Amino acid sequence: MASGKNTLVLYYSRTGNCRAVARAIGEALSCPVREIKDLKNRSGFWGFISGMIDVRKHPITGIEPKALDVSPYDTIFLGSPIWGMRFAPAITTVLSTFDFAGKQVVLFAVVLKQFKQAKIDAYAQALSAGGARSHKSFVIKTMKKTPEMLRQEAQKAVAVIANHKMQGHEASCPC
Ligand SMILES: Cc1cc2nc3c(=O)[nH]c(=O)nc-3n(C[C@H](O)[C@H](O)[C@H](O)COP(=O)(O)O)c2cc1C
Repeated sequence: MASGKNTLVLYYSRTGNCRAVARAIGEALSCPVREIKDLKNRSGFWGFISGMIDVRKHPITGIEPKALDVSPYDTIFLGSPIWGMRFAPAITTVLSTFDFAGKQVVLFAVVLKQFKQAKIDAYAQALSAGGARSHKSFVIKTMKKTPEMLRQEAQKAVAVIANHKMQGHEASCPC
């Protein structure tokens, strides 16, 4: 597990929770944090409705940056909010367009209250099929949590992952 050197945090956030977690990871590991933007307007009620529809019917969306050279990094933390039991379209798009071959990818997700670990395991398996190395993951529930509470949970999760010595095995943080 990288200490932070050669580590990059990538995330998408619609309402700030995943951003708080991503920044806490960056702070814990002293590494760069890069936001992925969805070019489709996801704000407000109609943004929520379009999100619910697109996550199933049109999971590939326009993103900024469209491509990213991740070759300087060994470890990528990749985070998304959960929309209808799936990653948000911006991160589904990253997973299908960015090249993570040879990288250790740590998936993380934020969700209001409910998400199945099997779902994140399926994303990890797809990454593995694409040549990514090991993939640990964690999910943070955001209901009734302040940004400071999210920050603390994220830092705890990073510590669990950093202490996990079994390279090549998946670890989940019961956050
Ligand atoms: C389109 C959409 C679908 C969502 N689906 C779920 C869901 O199935 N289960 C759940 O617990 N939360 C769901 N949420 C809530 C988000 O996962 C949760 O609010 C998360 O913290 C948002 O992260 P963000 O602030 O980084 O955007 C959904 C939110 C949106 C916008």
